[in-house]
Amino acid sequence: MIYGERIRLRRNERSDIPKFVEWLNDPEVRRYLLLDLPISQANEEQWFENMLKVPSNEQPFGIEIREIEPEGGNEHWRLIGNCSFMDMNWTVRSAEVGLFIGEKTCWNKGYGTEVMQLLLRLGFDTFNLNRIYLRVYEANKGGIRAYEKAGFVHEGRFRQGTFQNGKYCDVLLMSVLRAEWNQK
Ligand SMILES: CC(C)(COP(=O)(O)OP(=O)(O)OC[C@H]1O[C@@H](n2cnc3c(N)ncnc32)[C@H](O)[C@@H]1OP(=O)(O)O)[C@@H](O)C(=O)NCCC(=O)NCCS
Repeated sequence: MIYGERIRLRRNERSDIPKFVEWLNDPEVRRYLLLDLPISQANEEQWFENMLKVPSNEQPFGIEIREIEPEGGNEHWRLIGNCSFMDMNWTVRSAEVGLFIGEKTCWNKGYGTEVMQLLLRLGFDTFNLNRIYLRVYEANKGGIRAYEKAGFVHEGRFRQGTFQNGKYCDVLLMSVLRAEWNQK
């Protein structure tokens, strides 16, 4: 487990798949994701099997938040979304990161910022990366704000980099370099 203040990241299990299918088919959740078509249980099972292959240039993790049961005060961890390293390049020592929080009641509570901070820590301190980058649709104002709060710097713009709802939209490129991470 990789623990943050209020969240933890853990390896994905097959039992996560039904939740992913539900979330990734929700139009509000998938609005700013690189997904064009609906997702099936079989699609996600295939993704899971591919992810188990070694070596993999993808390192996904489930995002869980700590909850205290009102009766009895017991603590348990609830899955709210997923995040991942992708396109890991061991020569350049760079990787792309991405995340989605499928539980919409958990948006705008700082969890996305915390996930990105944990991925940066893991990427620099464990994987020994030098550059961690992400792509985000220009219209995804909440995502951009979360990434800025986590320390990502605006780096570039893919003009008309995506096509959604009948029109082209720009995609922003943001990154953090090890030198910037070390300065914090
Ligand atoms: C994008 C996403 C990861 C952000 O996570 P989150 O937990 O909601 O983000 P945070 O709460 O850490 O930060 C969001 C910030 O954006 C702000 N925000 C939200 N909507 C906004 C808007 N329309 N305009 C400006 N700011 C906005 C919030 O107020 C918050 O800033 P603040 O803390 O300064 O008030 C999450 O909403 C999500 O998973 N969405 C669906 C999938 C997705 O878009 N994934 C990312 C693809 S790149």
